Amino acid sequence: MATLLAIESSCDDTSAAIIRDGMVLSNCIANQEAHRQYGGVVPEVASRAHQVNIIPVVDLAIKKAGIDKKEIQAVGFTRGPGLLGSLLVGTSFAKAFALSRNLPLIEVNHMHAHVLAHFAEDPKPPFPFLCLTVSGGHTQIMLVRDFMDMEILGQTQDDAAGEAFDKSGKLLGLGYPAGPLIDKHASAGQARFPFPEPSMPGLDFSFSGLKTSILHFLKRETAANPHFITVHLDDICASIQGTIVTILLKKLRKAALETGIQHIAIAGGVSANSGLRKALQTMGEQEGWTTYIPAFQYCTDNAGMIGIAAYYKYLAGVFCGQDAVPYARQS
Ligand SMILES: Nc1ncnc2c1ncn2[C@@H]1O[C@H](COP(=O)(O)OP(=O)(O)OP(=O)(O)O)[C@@H](O)[C@H]1O
Ligand SMILES: [Mg+2]
Repeated sequence: MATLLAIESSCDDTSAAIIRDGMVLSNCIANQEAHRQYGGVVPEVASRAHQVNIIPVVDLAIKKAGIDKKEIQAVGFTRGPGLLGSLLVGTSFAKAFALSRNLPLIEVNHMHAHVLAHFAEDPKPPFPFLCLTVSGGHTQIMLVRDFMDMEILGQTQDDAAGEAFDKSGKLLGLGYPAGPLIDKHASAGQARFPFPEPSMPGLDFSFSGLKTSILHFLKRETAANPHFITVHLDDICASIQGTIVTILLKKLRKAALETGIQHIAIAGGVSANSGLRKALQTMGEQEGWTTYIPAFQYCTDNAGMIGIAAYYKYLAGVFCGQDAVPYARQS
């Protein structure tokens, strides 16, 4: 029996989970509300909040799992990519916990963990599969050959899909993070305002042009009607969401055709988007894909997915030393 403690602190969520034999026994998250007033994550505020939250969150995860601390056999932690100051808190905690109990340490790549969140519950995708990983900092199409063998086939060259949601929401005067709010308004609206799609080569993405075209569109329309946003908010959100989803799925379809892979997953915070989930299902039915959509609790940052990724490394005997340092970017 393998019981692991997992720690996630790459951005603004402090999370701890207990994993036993590949099952998530507890998955606790302390969200940081402090960033809302700034309209985005403030790195210094995030790392200070991690310091306050980390011990209570770990305590809670152990309590909720109904285990004793002594049963923990290894510690998994997010080493990167993410905010360095934030990563340092989780990494230092994991190292200290492991050192004091003489436990092995397992470093986890945050983006791989988003993909491996699919192994927290059934149905689990068979290898190889494609995963569209769409989050606050990344947009990638991954070819997943194994738990530790993943290749990025295409990725964004500027903003991530989550940023496209959040920055569009900011232009509309919505709160942060705007993704879930745009999702909510979009479900009551019609996608009747066309926004241009970028022409990116291969399987790469670009979202910065979309943000600029939304800005120009809103400037033009509010000059003619100062109440334009308030009156048409639902339709504007449906149009923005529709454009982002179309851009994502066109490339995913291209990747499926090029690789011949028919097992298709989505992961990351934006995979919580109802428009994307629905459109993937529809495209899957048309293309004959088997699609994998994660449960909501495994979409945005959580230590459960870190623990799943750590568990498979544990089984393979892949550990790291106390000298492992966080990294901000994926190499
Ligand atoms: N329902 C939704 N619709 C659209 N976007 C959403 C939804 N729910 C969450 N998001 C977006 O998901 C993003 C957060 O996802 P996640 O926590 O995976 O990102 P991150 O960890 O900050 O970035 P990364 O994983 O790239 O380091 C935010 O941009 C948020 O707006
Ligand atoms: Mg994330």
